[in-house]
Amino acid sequence: MRAIVIYESMFGNTRRVAEAVARGLARTAEVRLARADEVESGDLASVDLVVVGAPTHAWGLPRTNTRGQALVTASRGDNDLVLEPAAESSPGVREWLGALGRLGVSGAAFDTRLRAPRFLTGRASTSISRSLRHDGAQLISPPASFFVDRQNHLYAGEDERARAWGERLGAEVARRKGAQVSRASLLRARARPRTRLDPLERGLVFLELFVSMCGIGGGIYLVSSPRSAMPLAYLEGTGFDTWRWPGVALLLFVGVGPVLAVVATWQRRRIEDAAHFLVGLGLVVWIIVEALWVVVSAPLQITFATIGVVIAALALTRSRAPRGRTPVVGTVREAHVDVSPGSVAPRDVSPLDASPVGGNGEVRP
Ligand SMILES: Cc1cc2nc3c(=O)[nH]c(=O)nc-3n(C[C@H](O)[C@H](O)[C@H](O)COP(=O)(O)O)c2cc1C
Repeated sequence: MRAIVIYESMFGNTRRVAEAVARGLARTAEVRLARADEVESGDLASVDLVVVGAPTHAWGLPRTNTRGQALVTASRGDNDLVLEPAAESSPGVREWLGALGRLGVSGAAFDTRLRAPRFLTGRASTSISRSLRHDGAQLISPPASFFVDRQNHLYAGEDERARAWGERLGAEVARRKGAQVSRASLLRARARPRTRLDPLERGLVFLELFVSMCGIGGGIYLVSSPRSAMPLAYLEGTGFDTWRWPGVALLLFVGVGPVLAVVATWQRRRIEDAAHFLVGLGLVVWIIVEALWVVVSAPLQITFATIGVVIAALALTRSRAPRGRTPVVGTVREAHVDVSPGSVAPRDVSPLDASPVGGNGEVRP
């Protein structure tokens, strides 16, 4: 598994958190740590997880003017803040997210901010999460915050909390990937091995499809013109006064029956041979009954009776032949596993939480 942790930082706190998250992720993933200005869009092509973090400035993501204010703060001399070497580099996380293309990866966001209720401080990670989700990333954690004091120093223990959060992110991605793999294996295991039809089967399927087409065509013709399809005189003494019900019977019995046998063959059902035999026998019986009631066309009826006999005979022959179907190499279809965004987990909802206390990535003061 591959992960990338992307960050922006003015005074080094967000960088420290990013480094700790990367250390946590490194237990399960190959991790790259990079500033936003160092990452190109192609760098995300082969990663499974992208984690993005930034300091909270003016209730959200840093902008050019808030970065300028940070520079002023650091240069005031009444503090020990040291600017990061690339503090003014562009793009920052806001600009980087703005230029991001479509993502097909898991994502998570964090920020650094003052330790106070969220509605007072705002938090950059919410904007990052929204942007990642908008670009198609599948969020695997709620936004997480790590806290600095009023002198802009990371609180003790935040490094460790960030490392643990990173570790959980890695485990979550691995779990989801594992679940996908085992689902794929399950689907593959369930797939019936496709085998080539043997010559007898091909003959049977051909005859059955021919009979079926005739049955369906003839049935529809009789049902749609029940009084004129054929002379009604043929029906004398049969109990029918139109061709409607004989048409329905033809449609179902001669039209649909053989299709079921073809489906059984295609699906490799155990009843395949029995189904062929029944189709053949049924066709012979059908013609005999029909001929006893009404001789519509002797050559036609003899032809179909003969086809019925051939089908039954082929089915019997096949059922007694030794089995040795040829597996077709390469036609067992790979199970498709949907990895599209949003397909595995509900948006933004995850048991992953950066906080040992709360459910929103916040350590309560
Ligand atoms: C211009 C500016 C605006 C800030 N606005 C906020 C804010 O709205 N909410 C907050 O919690 N912290 C705010 N902070 C504090 C930053 O969140 C804090 O400096 C940052 O987390 C430190 O991260 P860094 O060391 O990576 O730059 C602000 C800091 C600066 C310099």
